[in-house]
Formats: sequence, structure tokens, C-alpha cells
Amino acid sequence: EKDGYAHYMLKEIHEQPRALRNTMTGRIDEAQKKVIFPTLQLTPESVQKLEKIYIVACGTAYHAGVIGKQVIERLAHIPVEVDVASEFRYRQPLFQKNTLTIVVSQSGETADTLAALREAKRNGSAVLAITNVVGSSIAREADDVITTNAGPEIAVASTKAYTSQLIGFYLLGLYLAQGKETVDQQARAEVLSALQELPDQVEAILAHADGIRQYAESIKEENQLFFLGRGLDYAVSMEGSLKLKEISYIHSEAYAAGELKHGTLALIEEGTRVIALSTQADLYEKMVSNITEVKARGAVVLGIALANNMELHRSVDEVCLIPVTNELLTPVLSVIPLQLIAYYTSVALGHDVDRPRNLAKSVTVE
Ligand code: M6R
Repeated sequence: EKDGYAHYMLKEIHEQPRALRNTMTGRIDEAQKKVIFPTLQLTPESVQKLEKIYIVACGTAYHAGVIGKQVIERLAHIPVEVDVASEFRYRQPLFQKNTLTIVVSQSGETADTLAALREAKRNGSAVLAITNVVGSSIAREADDVITTNAGPEIAVASTKAYTSQLIGFYLLGLYLAQGKETVDQQARAEVLSALQELPDQVEAILAHADGIRQYAESIKEENQLFFLGRGLDYAVSMEGSLKLKEISYIHSEAYAAGELKHGTLALIEEGTRVIALSTQADLYEKMVSNITEVKARGAVVLGIALANNMELHRSVDEVCLIPVTNELLTPVLSVIPLQLIAYYTSVALGHDVDRPRNLAKSVTVE
């Protein structure tokens, strides 16, 4: 049932190209280069009225939401707040008119996310769910559902669910942009065709995973690690850090690179391992100066950048290059090496990769 893979997690990592294709299937009008969601109650007319969006989820799904916020704001120009469900449900969020609440959940059964959905509905907000499980509680109670169609995810550590949720957000962001008429047709078509290239690009990264395996071997004795990034790279760092903690039990922290000076730099010493994501052209110089800061304190840095970056290797100890894509879409590619780092580190340490200690696949209690 693991199709010859040693663990479900590795199988699911490798299933990502197919999962991403399945999330896109039936949702793209090729002739018109448009996103279509024929069954949504959220019609282009109702999109026009939207003034505010909440995104609510837990864990990895929350991390997808942090990206979703940036994608929707950039493409559709609608202000978005993103919240952890266990916080949202008790913080008495203000629901204005024309607010949409998006809940994200692989299982569709997470107790806090379901409670947040009910809280939103009680306050008169329309609710759209992005979920992988058709017929789940969250899918049944939401007004609208975008299913990710990634297939069953067995490993506790979420991988293909995350990247397919990202695809869900890109499609939704484009759909909202169409309704709002914010970004011109040509720019939207560019994002859309780059989106359709992602599955092949993920495949290409997976075909060259050997270097990542060696890297994992080199960090397995560490007791702390930092992930740095800005913007979308920071959001991906959060997911990479969670994945590493969850299955390797090595403590790590994701940090917005610009915040380093405000405390965290004190933790960087000779030999501290840092993974620095740097895929965003407009933030590149800033990242290089943050990398220089940690290097000056002795950090050993792995840089993750796009394949057309000819410079980063001069500032870091090692680089991992990912295929070039539209800047908004880099998370789908940059997270793959981070998933593999977590996986191979856990394997190198002899841990139970698919069933990490203290955790359950679906958290149906508070
Ligand atoms: O089923 P859900 O997407 O609602 O689950 C949310 C989190 O419990 C889940 O993503 C968790 O963080 C993963 N184990 C992380 O890999």
C-alpha cells in the first residue's frame, strides 16, 4: 500500500505532482484562460461585493492560509486576516457585512476549525471550506467547498495536502481577481500558465533529492535550527520548521528575517545551522544582508533560491536551487526541499516518521 516507498510520508511527498494536477482539474477554462468554479455560491457578482476575508485553520493548513492571505491580497486586492482557529474562535472577531470566512482543513474534522466555521456562520459570514475530504463535517457545514482532491493523506506530517491547499488558494485568488477585475487578463493568464507548470517542476525537484538527503544527515545531531525568510519565504519557513520539529524532534524556529535583530540574533553562535529562503527578487538584497549578519556570528547557512540566481552561492555555505516560476508561486516549489529535509532527518535519527510521538493525524478534540 506504500507502493514500495519506505514510509507514507515519502509516498505522499512523491504524489504531489499528481495531487497538484488533480486540484487543478476541471477548474481551468483553457480557451478563456480563466479559473472556473461552477458549483460555488460565491458567484463573480457576489465576489464584487466582498470587502473582507478571514482565513482560519490549524497547523500546516494555517501555514497554507498565511500564503493564501498574501496571494488574495495581491491578486484580488481584498484585505485578508489569517488566524489560528483556536485563537479565532475565542477572540470575538468583528464580522462586518460582506465578509467571507475561508476555513482550511485537510481532514475536514479538526475541532477548532469546525468551531471557527460555526462561529463565523453564527455571525452571518459566508463560509468557504478548502478541504481534502468530501463529506467531512467541515465540507458539510460550509456554504461552499473547494476540494483539494489530493487523495488520502496517511502520514501525520502533512505534505501533499499543504501544496494542494496552496493550489486551491492560487485558483481562488485568480477567481476573486476575475470577479473584482483587479489584475489585467494578461497578468492573470501568466500566473495561470505558470501554475500549470508546477507539477512538472515539483517532479524535477524530487528527481534530484540526493543532495537534500546528505544535508539531512549533516544536521541530525543539531539541537536547534533556524529558518529565515521574508514575505512568502517567511510563510514557507514556518511550514519547514513545523515539519522538522514534528518528525525529527529537533527544535527549530522560523523567523521573519527582518526581525532577527530584535532578539533572535542572540541565539546564533559558531556553527548554528540556518536555512535561508530567498526566492523573492524585491526582497533579495534585504535577505542577503540578513544572511551576512548571521554568517558574521558563525552561522552555517543553506540558501534556497531560484535556479536563475547566480549570486546567492557567494553569501552562503551551500545552495539548493529550485526551478524558476512566477514569484507568487514559489512556495509550492521551495517547500519541497524542506519536506525532504524533515523526512530524511527523521529517518536518519530512526524515528517513527509516519507516526511521530504525541501527535494524531486528525485533532478532533480541543
Ligand atoms: O486536518 P487539518 O488540516 O485540519 O489538520 C490541521 C493540523 O492538525 C495539521 O495540519 C498538522 O499541523 C499536521 N500534522 C502538520 O504536519
